[in-house]
Amino acid sequence: MHRIAVFPGDGIGPEVVREGLKVLRTVSEVAGFKYELEEFPHSSEHYLATDVLLPPDLLQRLRDFSAIYLGAIGDPRLPVGLVERGIILGMRFGLDLYINLRPVKLYSEKFCPLKNKKAEDVDMVIIRENTEGAYSQVGGILRKGTPEEVSVTNMINTRAGVERAIRYAFELCRKQKRGKVTLVDKANAIQAHDLWTRAFAEVGEEYPEIEKDHAYVDAACMWMIKSPEWFEVIVTPNLFGDIITDIGAMIQGGMGVAASANIHPGRVSMFEPIHGSAPKYKGKNVANPIAAIVAIQMMLDYLGEDEAAALIDAALNRLFQTDRIRSLSAGAHKTDEIGAMVVDEVRKSADSVA
Ligand code: IPM
Ligand code: MG
Repeated sequence: MHRIAVFPGDGIGPEVVREGLKVLRTVSEVAGFKYELEEFPHSSEHYLATDVLLPPDLLQRLRDFSAIYLGAIGDPRLPVGLVERGIILGMRFGLDLYINLRPVKLYSEKFCPLKNKKAEDVDMVIIRENTEGAYSQVGGILRKGTPEEVSVTNMINTRAGVERAIRYAFELCRKQKRGKVTLVDKANAIQAHDLWTRAFAEVGEEYPEIEKDHAYVDAACMWMIKSPEWFEVIVTPNLFGDIITDIGAMIQGGMGVAASANIHPGRVSMFEPIHGSAPKYKGKNVANPIAAIVAIQMMLDYLGEDEAAALIDAALNRLFQTDRIRSLSAGAHKTDEIGAMVVDEVRKSADSVA
């Protein structure tokens, strides 16, 4: 029995989560596994009403779940980053979810903004280190509001933290039978990244069959646009991972399809679409729920429900191949219309097997 904590969150979060959960229910019936859901209200709205973000006792309770499913967090009425740091980063850091796994998969070349790229040209997995780097929150502000203000956040790189991210990337490359891992860093300007260079070379020796490659992050941004087919698995520090996965999302068709997993192998992990809360679309039934549905697929994959995960992937592939998804932009389809299409497609494939 999988116990899943659900945080619908803000803006379009609840709408896309609803579709993700419909798909979850369907594949659980078809593949025959059991799960139970517990919903949590924690979000900007909840913070405005209660002053509570993500209290320590809740974090503690989350450890007993199999997985966390999160919609979106963020609200323009609140100070920049307050709830994002409190809830999203609160989970990532508080539960030590040290891997942020972001597959970049182009379902149909018609959604790629790049010229002359086929679906197979855009197929990579980005492993973003998720608990260190510029997101460390180690720092502070001195003489705030004065002309002499000093504002510091330390970019933390620990040998253990860097190494576990790099090892995960090589293991994933092996498991997915891909051929190459590319380290993306900025070691030419940021001296601390020398640690990444060394750890990558040393850990890489344990994987002789895997090709090792390197790109500075500025060049990686360029190559992801020019020649995305060069990349198979990327491993990179937290901030660079944040930035290049938005490029990744665009070349796979946009924020409507990009999903991510925040993982601590063997422990409760968190699954979310990459997109934000998109307040202007809230409640309009226009947000694309595919990213949230792919987040469910990634969750099932993590939970060992391979058949169920494969059912979702196959359903999405068929919807794209048969051109039933006309556009990925908000409003092109109704949110619940896409959810229903995926549910239908999963059922159809189950009937054809039966
Ligand atoms: C992401 C988001 C978050 C991040 C924000 C909301 C804090 O952009 O998941 O990529 O920077 O990690
Ligand atoms: Mg981001």
